[in-house]
Amino acid sequence: MSSEIVIAPSILAADFACLGEEIAAIDAAGADWIHCDVMDGHFVPNISFGADIIKAIRPLTKKVFDVHLMIAPTDPFLEAFAKAGADVITVHAEAGPHLDRSLQAIRALGKKAGVSLCPVTPESAIDYVLDRVDLVLVMTVNPGFGGQSFLESQLDKIARIRTMIGERPIRLEVDGGVTRDNAAAVAAAGADTLVAGSAVFRGKRSVDYAGNIAAIRIAAEAGRVPKLQNISAPSMRAGEAVRIR
Ligand code: DX5
Ligand code: ZN
Repeated sequence: MSSEIVIAPSILAADFACLGEEIAAIDAAGADWIHCDVMDGHFVPNISFGADIIKAIRPLTKKVFDVHLMIAPTDPFLEAFAKAGADVITVHAEAGPHLDRSLQAIRALGKKAGVSLCPVTPESAIDYVLDRVDLVLVMTVNPGFGGQSFLESQLDKIARIRTMIGERPIRLEVDGGVTRDNAAAVAAAGADTLVAGSAVFRGKRSVDYAGNIAAIRIAAEAGRVPKLQNISAPSMRAGEAVRIR
């Protein structure tokens, strides 16, 4: 995967009353990707937003839209998120029995396919889909809410998945409780893509957001595993929108 660390602010922590301004602010503040947390009140105990909101904010930035679906079922909604402007669509391995089919469907829509694992799900859940994915997302909180504490237990799992990925062009993303204080450990375990909600949207808009993003990025760069640095995947470079539609 790319040698670059990707920082993906989760807009779940944004001020929804002025979401457009918040998108512009994190874009200007140096966000690489925009992480969109979609929750259905069924797969997770919270409801956030759906494809119409993503479609509305899509024109406001050229950054990669990283759409994390915490919904079940997933398949009936994949086309709507693709049409709304998602670049990466990530589904949960726990969301249904036919993960392989969901991942094929995402790629058939011309999008990058991601698979996410809840904290209790072992890495073996993705043994047979590694050649179908562009991204693996390790949840470091139980999905459903922002602002929770990072689960240290997941560091071993991140490291094991990094080994499983090998030389494949797959991004390894970590989501939940990521801060400037644990970003080095996350990167040292092998992650190259860091989602952060509360730790980015602290303070008063762009100036603070820029400092928050930079602090996470600097910590991650300092902690990262040296052997990752020569692996490249041009279509998923930091900040580059993957427009496949
Ligand atoms: C949790 C979401 C995360 C979360 C991140 O279900 O998937 O993206 O919003 O927020 P923080 O960084 O506050 O944990
Ligand atoms: Zn997320």
